[in-house]
Amino acid sequence: MIKVGIMGVGTVGTSVAQILKDNAEIISARAGVDISVKSGVVKNLNKDRGLDISLSDNVDDILNDEEIDIVVELMGGVDEPFEVVKRALKNGKAVVTANKALLAYHRYELQEIAGTIAFEYEASVAGGIPIINALRDGLSANHIESIMGIMNGTCNYMMTKMTEEGVAYDAILKEAQELGYAEADPTFDVGGYDAAHKLLILASIAYGLDAKPEDILIEGIENVSQDDITFAKEFGYAIKLLGIAKKDANEVELRVHACLISKDEMIAKIDGVMNGISVVGDKVGETLYYGPGAGGDATASAVVANIIDIARSGKSTPMLGFDKPMEGKLTLKATDDINSKYYLRINVSDRAGVLAKITKVFEDNNISVETMLQRPSSTNSANLLISTHIALEKDIQNMIKEIEELEFVNSTPVMIRIV
Ligand code: HSE
Repeated sequence: MIKVGIMGVGTVGTSVAQILKDNAEIISARAGVDISVKSGVVKNLNKDRGLDISLSDNVDDILNDEEIDIVVELMGGVDEPFEVVKRALKNGKAVVTANKALLAYHRYELQEIAGTIAFEYEASVAGGIPIINALRDGLSANHIESIMGIMNGTCNYMMTKMTEEGVAYDAILKEAQELGYAEADPTFDVGGYDAAHKLLILASIAYGLDAKPEDILIEGIENVSQDDITFAKEFGYAIKLLGIAKKDANEVELRVHACLISKDEMIAKIDGVMNGISVVGDKVGETLYYGPGAGGDATASAVVANIIDIARSGKSTPMLGFDKPMEGKLTLKATDDINSKYYLRINVSDRAGVLAKITKVFEDNNISVETMLQRPSSTNSANLLISTHIALEKDIQNMIKEIEELEFVNSTPVMIRIV
């Protein structure tokens, strides 16, 4: 019998206990051993979770329990779970976590501390989609050329509703929170940080790259408006928050931001709270993974899969997919050197000569316009909706600063990269 202790019995923790109970027979057959939850640790002991496991509010009750083989960490946050999982590993217990923020900051230290003890984290990226397994095992023969995906269900749900139903940003964020998709602090979702945490985990497995959130380009969906959605529809695009990792010679670019993506791309068709990730390997070509990226049962499905795997073998594969460092290590590409096509929305006073002055700034920064639309926004002002040919990130950033300074420009221009 394998015994599990759950740190944090919220929506996902409750589902983990319930799945291990509901599907006990098939899980036992697959694992070759019975698995049960012995106890859980919660902050509030007075809340009824409808489970028949013993609950405590003291992490020591799991960490010091010699009968517990596997600690499931679902506490959220970074510092507290880091201390807890380190202690679990030091006490010889295997760890399963869904905590992407913890891994975004501490995955290499945890790999070191875990050594040969199993440390698994399938649920940390794209909830129920077995993307870690696919990347670490199924595609291990390949150099990974790119990873591009919808890794945050909340943003995808919001973008879909704003596009299909014209729902306002604030109303739809509230709905995503009520449906239980959003993080405790939804800034993590709409600001792109949650997707960035997931991208960094995938980048370690794909490229052996040790980067932190502060090292990469992270933007959210906060500035996307109905004007941008109108432009997207008119020019055959969808707007999605994407996590992108792309190998270019010995460098890898990592970025999370809202994107205009052609409606014909598979990723563009992934709507609602669903996640979808495209991975291109040099030998296999393009592979696509689709499924629920949030929600109790979907996330718990991945947690329980890790528990079964550990119960089967008790062995650990290299946690981040590399048994030794690669020669000719890949390095992170500087954000300034990223190349893309760009879309800009510039609100200007609508009078003679404005357009000429704007296009002069484009020219000065070596940026070539591909398409342009002008829409009146209110009396005497208009939105210029402009897309560019491929340009350098540092040139675009410089150009935006210069445009913002012009006396006839009414607000900071909004920029969305085109994929
Ligand atoms: N808040 C996350 C999302 C949950 O919306 O995708 C899963 O990590």
